[in-house]
Amino acid sequence: MTYQLKSLPFSVKVLFSSYLIIIAIGYFIALLQILFTHGLADSKFGLSISDIVYSYYGNRSGSKIETMLNGPMKPYAPAEDRFKIIQWVRDGAKREAYEKKIKPIIEKRCVACHHAGAAIPDFTKFEELHKRAATDTGITLQSLVRVSHIHLFGIAFIFMFVGMIFCFAAGVPEPLKAVAVVMPFLFQILDIASWWLTKLSPHFAWLVIAGGAGMAMAFVFMWIISMYEMWILPIHDKMRNRIKTESLTAYMRRKD
Ligand code: HEC
Repeated sequence: MTYQLKSLPFSVKVLFSSYLIIIAIGYFIALLQILFTHGLADSKFGLSISDIVYSYYGNRSGSKIETMLNGPMKPYAPAEDRFKIIQWVRDGAKREAYEKKIKPIIEKRCVACHHAGAAIPDFTKFEELHKRAATDTGITLQSLVRVSHIHLFGIAFIFMFVGMIFCFAAGVPEPLKAVAVVMPFLFQILDIASWWLTKLSPHFAWLVIAGGAGMAMAFVFMWIISMYEMWILPIHDKMRNRIKTESLTAYMRRKD
């Protein structure tokens, strides 16, 4: 192998490392994002199987409004108001009752964020609220199509470069290297397939976690090896050479 990470020009090392560091920060923030969206789906902090089921398959024992009011939207209304909204949903989300009792609560507690022009549903419109009073069947097919293709393109780009940098590592046998670079792509396919499968049946939720965990492991492995060979290995080599020359000069001196 002529090209090795440790003997790359300094500027190339800086470029590769900057890329790897930015991707690592991005990865970390993506995990936070998962914790804050999916993680709260079952209204308990932390990611669990039920979060995955609620996000993709839906919480079919209740509506989206109910799930959100017991989860991420909990801080925005006192228990009393949340109870009234949930009661209204369970009573069939009728327009008449809405005008009388629910509209004032929504206007007071929700429309500060849920208004026209916001990136989230506009609850000044009765229809938008009513839609979410139906049984929660999880992510919509449109959203699933959207996140699937964004993820496939985005992740392919990320792992193209992470894998390419890792390919210059000298200390990893070629077959293991091939396994490591192909892993994220395989896990990505597994991950996305598992979203669609979980949409159909909650039994597949654990596959979502397996897919994500596998990808993260491959990433950490390639990241650490690449950084090690770029920055730590050259120092080792230098020290080893110095010890060699020092013992050689000592030997010569003794001979004199
Ligand atoms: C501080 C801003 C804020 C307030 C106040 C707020 N929400 Fe939200 N709401 C959001 C954001 C942001 C999202 C989208 C992110 C998410 O899904 O967690 C959201 C999403 C939702 C959703 C899911 C919509 C969908 O179909 O994806 C529902 C239902 C909801 N809110 C209900 C309410 C209700 C009811 C209230 C009033 C009691 C309320 N929210 C108050 C910010 C707010």
